[in-house]
Amino acid sequence: MRADHDRAGVLVTGGAGFIGSHLAEALMERGSNVVVLDDLSTGRYRNVRHLLDDPHFKLVEGSVLDLDLVRELVAGVDEVYHLAAAVGVRLIVDRPLQSLITNIKGTENVLDAAHLHRKKILITSSSEVYGKSRNGPFKEDDDRILGSTRKLRWSYSTSKAVDEILAFTYYKELGLPTVITRLFNTVGPRQSGQYGMVLPRFIGQALRGDAITIYGDGTQSRVFTYVGDVVEALIRLMNTPEAEGEVFNVAGDQEITIADLARLVVAKVGSSSTLRYLPFEEVYGDGFEDTPRRTADTHKLEQVIGYRCKTSLEETVELLIKHARETR
Ligand SMILES: NC(=O)c1ccc[n+]([C@@H]2O[C@H](COP(=O)([O-])OP(=O)(O)OC[C@H]3O[C@@H](n4cnc5c(N)ncnc54)[C@H](O)[C@@H]3O)[C@@H](O)[C@H]2O)c1
Repeated sequence: MRADHDRAGVLVTGGAGFIGSHLAEALMERGSNVVVLDDLSTGRYRNVRHLLDDPHFKLVEGSVLDLDLVRELVAGVDEVYHLAAAVGVRLIVDRPLQSLITNIKGTENVLDAAHLHRKKILITSSSEVYGKSRNGPFKEDDDRILGSTRKLRWSYSTSKAVDEILAFTYYKELGLPTVITRLFNTVGPRQSGQYGMVLPRFIGQALRGDAITIYGDGTQSRVFTYVGDVVEALIRLMNTPEAEGEVFNVAGDQEITIADLARLVVAKVGSSSTLRYLPFEEVYGDGFEDTPRRTADTHKLEQVIGYRCKTSLEETVELLIKHARETR
């Protein structure tokens, strides 16, 4: 058992969310004192309920938009993982203004507080920053190709890019130790299908025997990364001095088309679900643009932290089906 003064204090913004709650758990297992700041907008109390009795865990219900609160919490810890955000294209398309403010102003607040109190910070950006470029697997310094500013779909990508630029600038101009991560599709228990996340949605449909709804023609491809692997990478990056001032793709390397993913889910569930294709416009409105291929070059991550996201897609899908059956 660690003495209290030996424990690192860590703030996880968005720590009641899907990835944040796994990160909080992993940090506690490593002997940290964890404070979570979350407004429970897409996060859930039940994601962290099992941690609440532990004296080394604290949930603060509040917003990263509350600068005084953020400053107060950052003052009391040693390092900050900033995950709080309006996440995913669906949410941004539905609630654009609030989402942009959360993602840009919220990140600025957390960087401001980290700078004020000289605390190391890791931020979670997204593969969405690469936009609709077809040139994957993407390297961290590749060009970004986006559609018109009138297409709300690109505002998530832009808000995350602004976060990255803010973080780089705090590092370069103000010397704040900052690590920037670009997460690709991350999957695992507790992820909600409600905001357009494809794998939990497919699994829910397959378990109910409903048609699996594929947006577009299903030829678009992605990589899916198990949340446990992502959390391990984030913690290693935070603890690697060479990662400061750098940006890293955090992803697995198993590419799959969305139609094949649907078939894999149906086969693993043993479901009688059929596949149903819906035009993007029907789901997201007129003029929606999708990205045909989004895969990651992860050499930089491997080089700097000596780690690969290694859980296979089959294993991940099996784990998720098991979890979904247990929590139905
Ligand atoms: N899940 C993925 O595949 C993925 C991919 C790329 C990037 N990311 C990034 O990872 C991070 C975590 O995403 P997630 O998948 O766990 O989503 P999530 O929605 O489960 O987590 C986001 C959390 O932030 C909280 N939050 C939102 N606005 C807030 C505010 N103003 N103040 C405090 N808390 C607030 C939500 O309640 C939620 O708990 C996000 O920054 C997201 O952009 C996720």
